[in-house]
Amino acid sequence: MSDSVRGYDRLARWYGVLEKPVFRKDLQLARVALLSELPPVDRILMLGDGDGRLLAEVLRTQPSARVTSVEQSPRMRRLQKRRVTQLGAEDRVRLVCQDARQWTAGGETFACVIAPFFLDCFTESELECHLPQWMALVEPGGWFYHVDFVVPAAGWRRLRATFWSAVMHRFFKWQTGLTVRELVPVEAFFDGADWVIQQTQTLNHGFVQSRLYRRNGLPLATLGHSPDDTRPPVGGM
Ligand SMILES: C[S@@+](CC[C@H](N)C(=O)[O-])C[C@H]1O[C@@H](n2cnc3c(N)ncnc32)[C@H](O)[C@@H]1O
Repeated sequence: MSDSVRGYDRLARWYGVLEKPVFRKDLQLARVALLSELPPVDRILMLGDGDGRLLAEVLRTQPSARVTSVEQSPRMRRLQKRRVTQLGAEDRVRLVCQDARQWTAGGETFACVIAPFFLDCFTESELECHLPQWMALVEPGGWFYHVDFVVPAAGWRRLRATFWSAVMHRFFKWQTGLTVRELVPVEAFFDGADWVIQQTQTLNHGFVQSRLYRRNGLPLATLGHSPDDTRPPVGGM
């Protein structure tokens, strides 16, 4: 078991509480900020969702969606499973306990990929390798929903964000062996002709951002492709 898995296992029960002293409700507000902008979609992939708070909201706001959640920590996965069971949504959720860098979707694509405070776990070179692979899992016309910390360009907001970012990196280095030293901006990955930014919402004095990107192209359904072709088996919890 890696330091990261061990660390997040250890933190799992306390994760929701830990963020409260500094961020109060802002991280949860950021997680759900743009969910209402998503049209009804049929297949969603969640990466590193942690304790399942966002998963529960996704299941509520997307009642027809089948959700695959890839999370490395068995304890986080257990918390996700508990929330799914409370919602009676077992038949439309697949919980995969695996390193998302090694996980292959087996040819499946998704109408939406959600990455909440997940991409900040990776170094620039890891992102260069894996983020394009995760982005490629979004079908044409689909969505990439990214929620994460960002450092504002200037002023006291930048100083404040830099301070808290350094505190968090030290904490996660201590607890999970995180090797990332500072936040890596990921906007450039979405700069090409393939993606357009649909909406951005900023919270916590510019330190937290929710961004909804849309992939260009016609949705597969309009091209006569049935999503059933690539659906995962249900009840895979
Ligand atoms: C910083 S936490 C964020 C948790 C949650 N998404 C949130 O909004 O607070 C990162 C989460 O991603 C998971 N994670 C980190 N690296 C991962 C990887 N390579 N594969 C799968 N999950 C990973 C961790 O176990 C943890 O649950």
